[in-house]
Amino acid sequence: MRIDVISLFPDMFGVVRDSGVTGRAHNQGIWALHAWNPRDFTHDIHRTVDDRPYGGGPGMVMLAEPLKQTLQTIRTQRGTTSVDNAPVILLSPVGKRFDQSLAARLANSAGAIFVCGRYEGVDQRFIDGYVDEQWSLGDFVLSGGEIAALAMIDAAVRLMPGALNHGDSSLQDSFQDSISGLLDSPHYTRPELLWDQPVPPVLLSGNHASIARWRREQSLALTSKNRPDLLEHARHLGLLTKSDEKFLDSLKT
Ligand SMILES: C[S@@+](CC[C@H](N)C(=O)[O-])C[C@H]1O[C@@H](n2cnc3c(N)ncnc32)[C@H](O)[C@@H]1O
Repeated sequence: MRIDVISLFPDMFGVVRDSGVTGRAHNQGIWALHAWNPRDFTHDIHRTVDDRPYGGGPGMVMLAEPLKQTLQTIRTQRGTTSVDNAPVILLSPVGKRFDQSLAARLANSAGAIFVCGRYEGVDQRFIDGYVDEQWSLGDFVLSGGEIAALAMIDAAVRLMPGALNHGDSSLQDSFQDSISGLLDSPHYTRPELLWDQPVPPVLLSGNHASIARWRREQSLALTSKNRPDLLEHARHLGLLTKSDEKFLDSLKT
């Protein structure tokens, strides 16, 4: 997978390229990152990338032309104009809310070209002419698209084959629809007794069926408490068993 990012702060992407799971996967050649600064595609002495908004109002707007020229250079380097191969994704609070299924879609693709907005946003004509999709990290406003892109890249790369040391550990994570769509259960490690709190005895029992049932019930209880919408979704997909429903009923009493 090849990810290109267009950003006024390309150095920010060192975080995913050099650290942790994504850094190791990058070193192993599982994915590649190319960060581009639209300032390098300006032709005036001030290397201008923004201007005042038509119609007035506060803030500045990113110019379309440097973004277009950056994109054209990326397309030439990638050797493609095919949308299937590399969709142009603008990070934006008005976009589709990013989730685990979009992360999986990205992980299973040849990559994407992320455009990180700054200021009040990007000239609409660039969006109309060149952007295939808009993705939002959530219902809040960031100062720029970089942190959103970093989060999305991280979420996708860890799903790629070979990225995690224990390949199947992502299957137990929260939101894995194909498995349960529920939130993850709590985790414990050494020591067995910490601050007068023991590890739940079932986790020391060696009984794999009991441990699996305990984890399932913890997931059900947590999802019911924090994300009833996910529980409803799992029910709708037929992912809840009769014993799950019985356990959920017991929580109400
Ligand atoms: C200050 S924001 C602009 C917000 C815009 N005026 C609005 O109200 O929708 C600057 C840039 O940050 C990025 N951004 C802000 N919030 C985001 C979010 N929730 N998800 C993805 N990108 C976001 C976008 O690229 C945006 O162009």
